[in-house]
Amino acid sequence: MKPKVFVTRKLPEKALEMIRAECKMEINPHDRVLTKEELIDGVREKDGLLCLLTDEIDEEIINSGKKLKVIANYAVGYNNINVEAATKRKIPVTNTPGVLTDTTADMVWALIFAVTRRVVEADRFTREGKYKGWGPMMFLGGDVYGKTLGIIGLGRIGRAVAKRAIGFDMKLIYFDVIRADEKVEKELGIEFVSLNELLKNSDFVSIHVPLLPSTHHFISERELSIMKKTAYLINNSRGPVVDEEALVKALKDNKIAGAALDVFENEPELSPGLADLENVVLTPHISSASIETRTKMAVMAAENLLAGLRGSRPPNIVNPEVLE
Ligand code: DGY
Repeated sequence: MKPKVFVTRKLPEKALEMIRAECKMEINPHDRVLTKEELIDGVREKDGLLCLLTDEIDEEIINSGKKLKVIANYAVGYNNINVEAATKRKIPVTNTPGVLTDTTADMVWALIFAVTRRVVEADRFTREGKYKGWGPMMFLGGDVYGKTLGIIGLGRIGRAVAKRAIGFDMKLIYFDVIRADEKVEKELGIEFVSLNELLKNSDFVSIHVPLLPSTHHFISERELSIMKKTAYLINNSRGPVVDEEALVKALKDNKIAGAALDVFENEPELSPGLADLENVVLTPHISSASIETRTKMAVMAAENLLAGLRGSRPPNIVNPEVLE
C-alpha cells in the first residue's frame, strides 16, 4: 500500500509528480496558510508531512500524526518546527539547504541597491506621473561601491553575499559566533571583527543567522544605536532576529539611514509605523523566490520526504540522532 502524505501548500509540479508516483498525496486545496486545526486534521493517518515555514508545526500537531515517519520542511530555516518533539518521537525532520544560497544572496544585493538608490520610491514617483523633468537634487541616495559591508553570520548565505561584493570594491568585515577558517577569510577578503566593531564601522549591516533563542532580537535598540547614522540594515534571514519596534524607532529618529527587510518579526504583520516610512524597502519574504530555486527546493523537499518514507536516511536530515 502506498504511504499517505500531506502537503500543506501547492508546490512546483515537478515535486508533486515525484510524490504522486510513490504516495497517496493529500494537498491543501486552498491558496492560504492552513489553521492549526486543519494541520492537525491533515497529518492524522499520514505517514509523511511536507510543510512550509509558514506552518507552525508544534508538539500537538506532531503528536496528532501518530503514523508520521518524516517531516520535510520546504525551507532551509526550520524554526517553524518543534524539532525536539519530533526527535522524541524518532521522526526525522529535514530542510532544503544549499539550493537557495545564491538566489538568497542575490536578493541581498537587490535590497542593498533598492534602499540605497531609492529605487522603489523613485519608481512610485515616476508611475504617479510626478516626474516632470530631470533635477540635480532628485532622489539623492548613497553610494554602494567602496563602502564597508558588515556581514553577521558567515555561513553559506553570508559567504555568497560576501563573494558578490568584490565587483563593488567594498571593504568586507564579519562577525560570527564561530570564526571562519583563515583560508575562507583570505579567499573572500573578509576580516573578522567583534559585533560592536562591525556595527560601528559598517555602511551596510546584512544579517545571515538562523533564528535561535540566542539570536532573537539580536539587533535591538543598543545595536542600532551603535550603527552609523548613514548606515543601512538589511535582513533576509528571519524577522525576529531584529527587534522591529526598536528598528521603527531608530528609523523614525534617523539613527540609521534606512533598512531593507524581506522578513518580519510577526510575519505577515508589520510593526506599526514600518510601512509609513520612506527610508525602508519591504518585500514579502521572497529571497528564494526564483522559479529555478523554488523548483529545486521542492524537489529537494520531496526527495527528503520520500527517503524518510522508504526508511532510508533523508539527505538533509536536521536531527540525525533519531537514526541512531
Ligand atoms: C528559507 O528557506 O528558510 C527561506 O526563508 C525561504 O525560502
